[in-house]
Amino acid sequence: MDCVKEINDLKKKKNAVILAHYYQTPEIQEVADYLGDSLDLARKAQKTTASIIVFAGVHFMAEGAKILNPEKKVLIPDLRAGCSLADSCPPSSFSRWKSKFKNPYVISYINCSAEIKAMSDLICTSTNAIEMIQKAPKDRPLLFAPDQNLGNWLQKQTGIAMEIWPGACIVHETFSEKKILNLQVQYPDAEIIAHPECELTLLEKSHFVGSTSALLRYITESKSQTFIVATEEGILHQMKKKEPEKTFIPAPPTSSCECNQCPYMKLNTLEKIKAALENESPEIPKRSLHLEAKKPLKQMLEWSS
Ligand code: 13P
Ligand code: SF4
Repeated sequence: MDCVKEINDLKKKKNAVILAHYYQTPEIQEVADYLGDSLDLARKAQKTTASIIVFAGVHFMAEGAKILNPEKKVLIPDLRAGCSLADSCPPSSFSRWKSKFKNPYVISYINCSAEIKAMSDLICTSTNAIEMIQKAPKDRPLLFAPDQNLGNWLQKQTGIAMEIWPGACIVHETFSEKKILNLQVQYPDAEIIAHPECELTLLEKSHFVGSTSALLRYITESKSQTFIVATEEGILHQMKKKEPEKTFIPAPPTSSCECNQCPYMKLNTLEKIKAALENESPEIPKRSLHLEAKKPLKQMLEWSS
């Protein structure tokens, strides 16, 4: 039997739902019940009535779903699917850093561990970050973690001063500005569109900056026919589906590697999704720390329009 049919049969039999991020491979995107960016998927995870959630994304996303649904079984096809950005903010160092400030207000990007979430006042995603930053009290020092590129970008957009943790994503820091500008000479009408995890100098040269969902919306709204896309290349599958007549050029990395593919996201495969549904494993465990981590996450979902 083919893998997709087996997955669909297992989903029905076990009342399971597959949530997948836009950075998954095209075949996983096609088998998903819901496809989205990190905010869309957190919202879906909060609302689903399924008994089992299979999260085709990375660990912090699946753990976020478990935090919001402690009684549900949340499966991740490959437990090793971590995130370099989340790893760039170890909880003990973060706690030491936080303790240097008097009565700080902490906003953490959703790409962080449950430990960091539990030490935060509010979570944001790349979709709602500006909106969330504007909610911060003005009379307390504002700390932002873990992505310094997003932090710098937010600071520029809002004029709100923040102390920023020096973390970054290996995929979004890989793009070569020089090669992108060379591509622009080759395609003078192309627009550069970028995810805010990219470095500030590239963001400043981009025609549009936004989360994965915002980039997808932008390519349909823009009159441009050609786009240089500075984010993980998995998103191109949906871009081509939405706008088959338009041209999408993945922004080139500095070296000749395939570094514009997230090695963690790409650990998931159809076979691993099938095995996860069959075995109901690997499962994200329930942890007592999730109670604290849930508060800033729920606050974000309540405040996010
Ligand atoms: P989005 O919020 O756009 O889904 O980004 C998540 C992510 O991991 C980007 O690297
Ligand atoms: Fe983490 Fe970067 Fe992969 Fe997103 S693309 S999951 S930030 S390593």
